[in-house]
Parts: sequence; structure tokens; C-alpha cells
Amino acid sequence: MAFELPSLPYPADSLEKAIDKLTMEIHHGRHHKAYVDNLNAALADQPALQTKTIEQLLREIQTIPEAIRQKVINNGGGHANHTLFWTTMSPNGGGEPTGALAEAINSTFGDFATLKTKIKEAALARFGSGWSWLVLSNGKLEITHTGNQDSPIMQGKTPLFGVDVWEHAYYLRYQNKRADYVEAWWNVVNWKEIGTSFDKAKS
Ligand SMILES: [Fe+2]
Repeated sequence: MAFELPSLPYPADSLEKAIDKLTMEIHHGRHHKAYVDNLNAALADQPALQTKTIEQLLREIQTIPEAIRQKVINNGGGHANHTLFWTTMSPNGGGEPTGALAEAINSTFGDFATLKTKIKEAALARFGSGWSWLVLSNGKLEITHTGNQDSPIMQGKTPLFGVDVWEHAYYLRYQNKRADYVEAWWNVVNWKEIGTSFDKAKS
């Protein structure tokens, strides 16, 4: 099939500073897997689309046949969003961004603490399921939020990281306390990976 579930880049129990093992297992092995399976099913009769990358499909979403477009938005977005989510966390994560990304954060938002506050505000402003994002938009850092599995790539933006605020991402440990989950998420954020993506996107 065209798309495959990527392996988690670390053991499921290694992000306990923020996310428990069972949540990681269900989130990756069931939720993300379902997005991949449903995306492949939606593209089963579309051999030309199967050869595209997930980023291409989302960037060109308006060219996808209308009969399957919403399925690609939901499941292709789900696949892209979660693939990014796993790589932007690390058992050795936390701390603060460095290098060019840190400079851009300071010049755009004032300081790192303000970035964290704004990501939390975006996470809490999202009613129901969705994502709180740091993206590059026309080369500039921007904080935004999207509903369901809508990807910023569909809006021509480059997501650097997104905090998944679907209840499936946090409910077992945090129940309704989304703000506590977002606060803990900074303990596993992988600034090295995000900084590398930033450098690539800017070059
Ligand atoms: Fe999720």
C-alpha cells in the first residue's frame, strides 16, 4: 500500500515525563494506524495519487477528487500530523530551543516563555478536537490552531511542531485537564529535531 505507519522512534514507555505508555500505544498503534489504513482505502482506486508524498497530497488538496477529498483531509492530515508529532518528541527532550530557531522565537514572540503561553492559549482556544501549532508562514513563525486533523500544509504553511489536543492524546492521565497536559508536553519536546526542520525550511 502507498502509505505505512512509521515506527515510534523510541519505546512507548519512554515519554512518561508527559505521556503514559498506554496512551502512546493506543495513540500510535490504533489511532495513527487507522488514519493510514483509511487513507490507503480512500486512494485504492487512485494509482496516480498513491505515488505522491503525504505533503504533496495536502498541499494540492483542492485538486483531489471531491468524492474522496474530505477523507484525504481527515486521514491524510491525521497521518501527516501524527508522523510529525512522534518525531518532535523525545525521551531526552525538554529544555529550550537553540540556534537560529531560538533567535527567531525571541524576535517574533519576545521570549520563549511567551511562545509557551501562546501555544497553550491556542490549545485551549481550540474547541473540541484539533492541534496547536508553531508553523512557518511566508517564512515567518506563527502560532495557530486547527480543528480535527486539518493540516497547516493545506494552507501553504510549514508545521514545525503541533501539540495534539484530541482527548485521545491525553485523557487517560489528564482527563479534562488539557492545560496540564500541554504544560507537561514541554518536558518531552524535541528542540533538536524542530531546530533542524526550521533550518531546512529556511534554507
Ligand atoms: Fe492524535
